[in-house]
Amino acid sequence: MLQQWDDPLAGLIPNSGTAEAGMTPPDAGVVAPSPVACDAARSGVGGNTPEKVFHPSVFPLSASGHSGTAAEPGPQPGNGDQMPYTTTGVLAGAYAPETSAAPKITDTRPVNPDDKRVINGMTDINQLAPFKYPWAWNYFLNANKNHWTPLDINMAQDVHDYYHKLTQAERHVYENVLSYLTTSDILAMRNIGLAVMEKMSAPELQIYQARQVYEESLHTWTYQHCIETIGLDQSEVYNRYRVVPEINGKIQIANCRLHSILRSDIDLNDRDELENFVMAYIFFSGIFEGCWFYNGFSPIFALQRRGLMKGTAEQLQYIMRDEVMHASFGIRVVKQIIREEGVKLDPQAIRAMWDEAEAAESAYAGYILRTPILGYSKEVHNNQFRFIANRRARQLNLEEPFPASREAALPWLDEQVNLRKEKNFFETRVTEYQTGGGLNWD
Ligand SMILES: [Fe+2]
Ligand SMILES: [Fe+2]
Repeated sequence: MLQQWDDPLAGLIPNSGTAEAGMTPPDAGVVAPSPVACDAARSGVGGNTPEKVFHPSVFPLSASGHSGTAAEPGPQPGNGDQMPYTTTGVLAGAYAPETSAAPKITDTRPVNPDDKRVINGMTDINQLAPFKYPWAWNYFLNANKNHWTPLDINMAQDVHDYYHKLTQAERHVYENVLSYLTTSDILAMRNIGLAVMEKMSAPELQIYQARQVYEESLHTWTYQHCIETIGLDQSEVYNRYRVVPEINGKIQIANCRLHSILRSDIDLNDRDELENFVMAYIFFSGIFEGCWFYNGFSPIFALQRRGLMKGTAEQLQYIMRDEVMHASFGIRVVKQIIREEGVKLDPQAIRAMWDEAEAAESAYAGYILRTPILGYSKEVHNNQFRFIANRRARQLNLEEPFPASREAALPWLDEQVNLRKEKNFFETRVTEYQTGGGLNWD
């Protein structure tokens, strides 16, 4: 029997304010927490751990619980300390006196990269090299080829466009896309920085994830910059995910996944905990970043293609490049975990995850595009979601969830990752960004 699931968003909806003029007040019953994600998060992938308690309110995060992690160095060779030498090559059991919570380093030999693991590793996580996962280090190097801030991009024309050129339906799309994205990026930052990083046991993985945490906060800054520049009501826009059921639905799914792994008592040697963690990682990299973010910018790119809101769209192009990297890295990490730990995924749980994601995305598209805008409709958006979901499934070595969707509804979307260099120099900043083009998705 499952116990003690306190949804942190529960009860927030009915008493919240109105999202925008003319919007129907939300029905509390419509925005109930997504059952599939929360059930999966509560019960483990296979649902075969009836007594498991995933309590999202247990938030205080300790330092890494991995037994091979040394938070503070102990005695080092040559510094006069007595070195109790062991021959096991691992640090487990070599703990400091009771006065210290951190394990002491007692083995003086360099870490053997073959001993590293993505999770549940026993090697000293403070030794970066030699690498076992050189590709992870390369992600970090590539991410650092792109430095930008939202202040680099001229937004003056966007202000004029918003107030003088956009239709009411286009403003509705613009505001709600921003509203969804800004909430999502905070969730993404908390997921990777608070729930995922501490479970990694190879430093080359954590290094890139640390960069990812920074990038997620940069993305939040970018949305805030757009919201401020255009002059939108900040408290209303930021609160919209709590009062619009169709935005709330996506956020709820992500929140359930996040809080199922944002606990200090997780032992990834437990198979159900491990599978739940893997499912959450698949969700965040394959769906949340790989589909919902990747596809989530496209309504504003559709405006950009008509010469509207070009500053905002360029901001989103930079973000999209980062998200491509995040999704790609996460998919690679999760596949490595599956290999190393011998994880067997439950096909029914995977199917339920895709179906839930599709239903939430469809409801979201129905809301933001309740009135289609020129060149973009909810049908186009949903078809593109299914097409991208198939791509992510292939990358994850999973069965395509929507085999009927073989054609891209937005054939131009992938090109958005490449910032066009022919832009007028005085109009926008021309920046070379090398990483996105180097990724091979299929
Ligand atoms: Fe982001
Ligand atoms: Fe991301």
